[in-house]
Amino acid sequence: MLERALTTASAALALTLCVLTPSALADAGTPLVIGHRGAAGLAPENTLEAVDRAARAGIGWVEVDVQRSKDGVLVVLHDQDLARTTDARTVFPRRAPWKVGDFTVAELTGLRAGAEPRWKGSGYENARVPTLGQLLDRLDRTGQGLLLEVKWPQNHPGVTRDILAVLGRKGWLDRRHVDSRLHIISFQAAALREVRALRPAIKLGICQEGASAGKLASYAKFVDSVNPQQGAVTRDFVRRAHALKGPHGKPLKVWPYTVNTATQARRLRALGVDGFTSDVPDAMRRTLGR
Ligand code: G3P
Ligand code: CA
Repeated sequence: MLERALTTASAALALTLCVLTPSALADAGTPLVIGHRGAAGLAPENTLEAVDRAARAGIGWVEVDVQRSKDGVLVVLHDQDLARTTDARTVFPRRAPWKVGDFTVAELTGLRAGAEPRWKGSGYENARVPTLGQLLDRLDRTGQGLLLEVKWPQNHPGVTRDILAVLGRKGWLDRRHVDSRLHIISFQAAALREVRALRPAIKLGICQEGASAGKLASYAKFVDSVNPQQGAVTRDFVRRAHALKGPHGKPLKVWPYTVNTATQARRLRALGVDGFTSDVPDAMRRTLGR
């Protein structure tokens, strides 16, 4: 217990000393490497540990997924249910199908988020599910920017207002954060339109399961980036996206997901993408020579 507390304290100190400035980490012409679900290949996805691993590798931006607990607290989790990433099956054997919104925040944050077999023996087995508030506090310490995905908003009616409320309470809707450290994304255009109606200054991005160039003109009316599946991105897609301006007057950025090999990273750099998310952002930065 004492050992864990000391490790956590020294990690926090190291991160505080290593203040990162997201904009300083993006060289012109080289794609911005964004940690996917924190840095899901380095530590359990969507945990503070994953964010810290990304920070220690010099990664200035992380992407995470946000959902809502049964009692209305925002938590950082990807799947609609808890079975894959946590020990919910063992802790709550009679609560199948373990839907995120069926559990209180006390129950969710008590689960182990490092329950996947691959984390056995890694030291990350006891990583916890963080709340959005905890995550924002951690990012303020590391100085990283946040690509916040509104995940499964159809399961959590009104979740965009809740997200904005937490961002506001934590000081993330001030000019400094909104201008250079916050970007909200979703597969659901309706969720993004809600954010835009309430807080037009926030930059938004639409995720696509493929890379459909035909929709870019309509997207450019309300989003600043498109986040397509990496394998579907073509030179024509990037060219057409860059030819359009988003609501903040800048060309649409192209930030594909999820890029985990050197071949993929080099291909996308050659196509001219602006950035991408990766489970192994440290390796992708090395590949790109940064
Ligand atoms: O960067 C967008 C990406 O995170 C979307 O895919 O399924 O990993 O949330 P997913
Ligand atoms: Ca995501």
